[in-house]
Amino acid sequence: MPWKKYEKAMDHSEIAFVYLKSGELIIDGDPPIYGPAIAATYGVRFGLSQNADLLVAFKNEVSSETLSLIGKLSLTDSGIGTCLNSYIRKAGTTGKRMIVFSAKGYDKHFFEPWFSSYQQELGIKVEFQEVRLTEKTIKIAQGAEVLCLFVNDEVTEDTAAKLRAMGVRLICLRCAGTNNIAIEACKKAGIQIANVPDYGPNSVAEHALALILALNRKLHLVHDQIRYGNFLLTQGLLGFEMHGAMVGIVGTGRIGSALAKILVAMGCRVFCHDKVRNESLLGCCSYVSLEELLSRSMVVSLHVPLTKETHHLIDDDALSIMPKGSLLINTSRGGLVDTKALIRALKSKSIGGAGLDVYEAEAGQFYSDLSGTGISDDTLARLLTFPNVIVTCHQGFFTHEAMQTIARTTFENVKSLLQ
Ligand SMILES: NC(=O)c1ccc[n+]([C@@H]2O[C@H](COP(=O)([O-])OP(=O)(O)OC[C@H]3O[C@@H](n4cnc5c(N)ncnc54)[C@H](O)[C@@H]3O)[C@@H](O)[C@H]2O)c1
Repeated sequence: MPWKKYEKAMDHSEIAFVYLKSGELIIDGDPPIYGPAIAATYGVRFGLSQNADLLVAFKNEVSSETLSLIGKLSLTDSGIGTCLNSYIRKAGTTGKRMIVFSAKGYDKHFFEPWFSSYQQELGIKVEFQEVRLTEKTIKIAQGAEVLCLFVNDEVTEDTAAKLRAMGVRLICLRCAGTNNIAIEACKKAGIQIANVPDYGPNSVAEHALALILALNRKLHLVHDQIRYGNFLLTQGLLGFEMHGAMVGIVGTGRIGSALAKILVAMGCRVFCHDKVRNESLLGCCSYVSLEELLSRSMVVSLHVPLTKETHHLIDDDALSIMPKGSLLINTSRGGLVDTKALIRALKSKSIGGAGLDVYEAEAGQFYSDLSGTGISDDTLARLLTFPNVIVTCHQGFFTHEAMQTIARTTFENVKSLLQ
């Protein structure tokens, strides 16, 4: 069989099994039945070519000796699986790998439909790892070309160069924020970075709204008391009407502007603060300074990214100018709020409550079940003692729609950046 011809026809780093229609293998239907299934099993790429009837291709070298052996195989219907398996298994061990860190069952669920595309279209084998990527767990990344990371995985200036040396070429964040990655150090080391900046801002905006309404109307408290048969209406359950209330949105990008529009529709008076004004809000909201926003709003919702500039944007000074009884909502990043200052404000009752989907030291705690061991972080534990605080587990993004978009965009990022 003219193997050389096919070898040449392909990218030099790839190799192909070629089955001619004139050979013993009868290819039944289109696409053929064996190639995709076997390729998917072993994480290799499958494709059809002008030059061959069927290709099972993978991105690594196979010696010409192996190639000639393959050429001599008798490709009978029953033998093909076994023959291919042994050669592909051998070759597949050095193929491209993508490791999905901090992977939970739901990540697997939403990535699953893309799984075979990674293998067939991109020639990448995907592995899921439950551990977070940190300085301590970096060894797991050895030999992977692509890392898929989430909000609490960490790439520091030190680890960026180490990851490159281990073979990592691309980091795909399956989230919008990039504050957990030393981006400049990665670029310097030659690692490309991609994120999912826009997977549907309404998922997070609606979660912020849920926190506002639950906190204001004390749903968490009444839910608890009713479970014990206590239907008493007490002063502690008193809320305020959102219609006509002044609400401040800090950061009017995708998520902040989506929330602003929902609140306008509810009849709130919306104040905004951002470095850049969002044209779509100019007719319905007022842009003011941060000080004015904080001092006039009964609800303040944070939607700026975490940067050096925004770190502890909400500190003792900021909290001191918020009106008595006002609510602070943070669905952006924990580091925007000085948690100890927030605890002081809650203790002194200078603000009315906080709804937090994020916490500045959440890494290693959020997305873990600590019910058996207890919470070792005293600041978080103190925060949870306040009846006027609701903490959710960084789940603003967690809707069917957003997860589907995240999985699709991550695949597209890998496809466009790696090829
Ligand atoms: N809780 C979750 O599950 C979840 C999910 C997605 C995103 N987020 C967080 O939400 C943040 C906002 O997301 P987005 O998609 O709306 O981002 P975006 O980039 O569309 O909007 C951010 C806005 O903040 C403004 N901004 C930046 N720095 C500022 C500063 N110093 N002062 C004033 N304004 C400033 C920008 O001009 C921009 O308009 C993300 O950075 C991420 O951290 C959280």
